Amino acid sequence: MNSVERMFAPAQDPEVRFSNPHTWESGARLWASGEQQTLTCCRVVEETHDVKSFEFRVGDGTPVRFEPGQFMTVSANVKGQAVERCYTISSPPTRPYLLSITVKQVPGGVMSNWLHENMRPGSTLRAYGPSGTFTATAAASAKSLYLSAGSGVTPLMSMTRASIDLGLNRDVVFVHSARTPADIVFRSELKRLAELSPRFRTFFVCEGVGDELDWAGPIGRLSLELLSEWVPDYAEREVFTCGPAGYMSAVRALLREGGHDPARYHQESFDISADVAPEPVREEQAATQQTFTVKLSRSSRSFTMSASETVLSAARKAGVAIPSSCSQGVCGTCKTRLLEGTVDMKHNGGIREREVQKGLRLLCCSRPTSDLTLDL
Ligand SMILES: Cc1cc2nc3c(=O)[nH]c(=O)nc-3n(C[C@H](O)[C@H](O)[C@H](O)COP(=O)(O)OP(=O)(O)OC[C@H]3O[C@@H](n4cnc5c(N)ncnc54)[C@H](O)[C@@H]3O)c2cc1C
Ligand code: FES
Repeated sequence: MNSVERMFAPAQDPEVRFSNPHTWESGARLWASGEQQTLTCCRVVEETHDVKSFEFRVGDGTPVRFEPGQFMTVSANVKGQAVERCYTISSPPTRPYLLSITVKQVPGGVMSNWLHENMRPGSTLRAYGPSGTFTATAAASAKSLYLSAGSGVTPLMSMTRASIDLGLNRDVVFVHSARTPADIVFRSELKRLAELSPRFRTFFVCEGVGDELDWAGPIGRLSLELLSEWVPDYAEREVFTCGPAGYMSAVRALLREGGHDPARYHQESFDISADVAPEPVREEQAATQQTFTVKLSRSSRSFTMSASETVLSAARKAGVAIPSSCSQGVCGTCKTRLLEGTVDMKHNGGIREREVQKGLRLLCCSRPTSDLTLDL
């Protein structure tokens, strides 16, 4: 047994909850989902040429409680417009006095560029309390496989940091895909954590070498061959995946091919490319496609929309600004009270049943089934 192995207690049995009420949760105030806080930036870390981490403390200095893998919704006034976007809390809940987000600059992107250009130590930022169900707590397992690409590394990094801070010595393999070695976010920290924790292993695969001509790792995309070589028991592992939509569908396909049980697969999408796609309209339906009127009770405005569109998308076209972020029914930013009418809402966990009972709906994933009146 080497000195590192001696430092760890035997592995936790799978029934032990990842989230332990006697550890980081004790004493920390619960930052309720949707509750607004003012965060003060303490430090900015340049992770790669286009990724920065912003570290914050909560305005009144109290510790906050969240699950590793959850995100918060940040809000800023950019060129006179209120903009809201979701960012995963990349720091672990085991360090409850400091919250960090790790943001990749998106070409032409409003919030990511604003944060990169404006956040400095001392700057403040409004944020809404943590949300999200993509957390290792949701699926206790003896062995996990974390698969990420690009900025999708962030939720898995929070889970990794939390697990190692708690000395859980969990059996985790973390495989990260990047464009080039210089684009690997948290590269040195992940390697250091793997040296510290004997049951945590990490691998990187890059599409090209970029400027790092002596890169010794594999070149290309994650394949079943590579996965089988690095993680021969991948089919026995609980898989957590986060990355661009194309990456995640490729991962799903290769896991399916490799016989992995889809029930043990969990993913989070950051994809901001478009609204929830309109429902396909059959040709014979198109001619009779229903339209509905949407009234806004506070502004006395109204617009018409087709039954196949989401209310958020139609409102945007009509020039009505409604706060939104994920456009996928995940973050809860577009939650609005429906005063009259009915919608067909297909969300992804961004709203609770009791909120639905109170008349709230997520407009990004709701399509009208009658005329509507919204509390806007
Ligand atoms: C749950 C969740 C967690 C997330 N966590 C992270 C994280 O940890 N790190 C991270 O970096 N990101 C994360 N994201 C993504 C993040 O929320 C933002 O979507 C991302 O930073 C881009 O926002 P933006 O305002 O910079 O870009 P946007 O302004 O929203 O633009 C996005 C893209 O659309 C294009 N675009 C914008 N306007 C137009 C237009 N009028 N016509 C054509 N194209 C246009 C832009 O060029 C850009 O390519 C997360 C998202 C979700 C849903
Ligand atoms: S914008 Fe995220 S739930 Fe609607």
